[in-house]
Amino acid sequence: MILLTGGTGYIGSHTAVKLIEQNEDIIILDNLSNSKAEVIDSIETITGKRPKFYQTDLLDIDGLEQIFKENKIDCVIHFAGLKAVGESVEKPLLYFNNNITGTIKLLMTMQKYNCKKIIFSSSATVYGTTQVMPLTENSPLGVTNPYGRTKLVIEEMLNDLHVADKEFGIVLLRYFNPIGAHKSGLIGENPNGIPNNLMPYICKVAKCELPQLNVFGNDYDTVDGTGVRDYIHVEDLAVGHVLSYNRIKTNNGIYTYNLGTGNGYSVLQVIKAFEKSNDVKINYKIAPRRAGDVATVYASTKKAEEEIGFKAQYGIEEMCRDSWNFAKTTKSYNTK
Ligand code: WQD
Repeated sequence: MILLTGGTGYIGSHTAVKLIEQNEDIIILDNLSNSKAEVIDSIETITGKRPKFYQTDLLDIDGLEQIFKENKIDCVIHFAGLKAVGESVEKPLLYFNNNITGTIKLLMTMQKYNCKKIIFSSSATVYGTTQVMPLTENSPLGVTNPYGRTKLVIEEMLNDLHVADKEFGIVLLRYFNPIGAHKSGLIGENPNGIPNNLMPYICKVAKCELPQLNVFGNDYDTVDGTGVRDYIHVEDLAVGHVLSYNRIKTNNGIYTYNLGTGNGYSVLQVIKAFEKSNDVKINYKIAPRRAGDVATVYASTKKAEEEIGFKAQYGIEEMCRDSWNFAKTTKSYNTK
């Protein structure tokens, strides 16, 4: 059995589908703080199988223990966590408690029930800001906000756990910029409130739910002055988790992989790709830079390709097409 914490979320739900399609038995745990229980119905519609679902919170150690008592969990894929950079700056203790304390309770319960395989949803945000591109897994680490700090602290805790107990099989996956959605349009990214990230914001402008996109700065040292990022299709990202699971099913040790495409696209290039792919116009204006942003971020994908055979398959236009295919059909959640 594989337990997906945060499994009704954006990356978790897509990974759930891919694991079921590989005939794995999965269980989903989620507190539904940033997703909906209907995602379980969508997973069932897509795969024909309904995963067991526990609505609980990692901070509720009794609820967590119940899952391990009732099921033989062999591996955990740990998606659950708060992830809004801006909110983390305003509410650091909320992020430290939810993300770090929650993970500690998860790991202690795993140890109690002798479950020693974990794949952790980390982020490119753990890389420091002054970097040479492309980022490799050995690029210097450094965090500039509480959200990123929770990811780095959890990575370091997992490294310490590996030192203490060599029976652990651990994969740290550093996501770059996930966008896109399942081809069915039944699951995708639908954050509560006003989106922080570029693609969900573009989709709300395309749906006329927001009037205009603010492009945060066009004076960076990039192809057209706007920020460059490594966007990766969430379906590719999901495959990266399945390949990681296949790796630690029979191996112990700790492995760190970038999950990106190795290609960078600017904000204006993404807007153009979205307009071309979906035959819609995106109204935008150039706005001041956003605090904390850097000019360019993209991944070296060499290690993941060599060690687990991971290679992103989707290009930017397909990512834009699939994002829109999902967004245009969903009712938006109430703004916070
Ligand atoms: C992408 C580009 C913005 C919104 C963040 C988190 C990171 C990870 C991925 C969780 C940048 C520009 C954005 C807008 C804009 N999340 N932009 N107008 O900042 O690269 O990474 O999400 O792990 O931790 O930091 O992604 O989508 O916010 O921004 O111009 O309304 O789009 O300046 O260049 P980012 P993003």
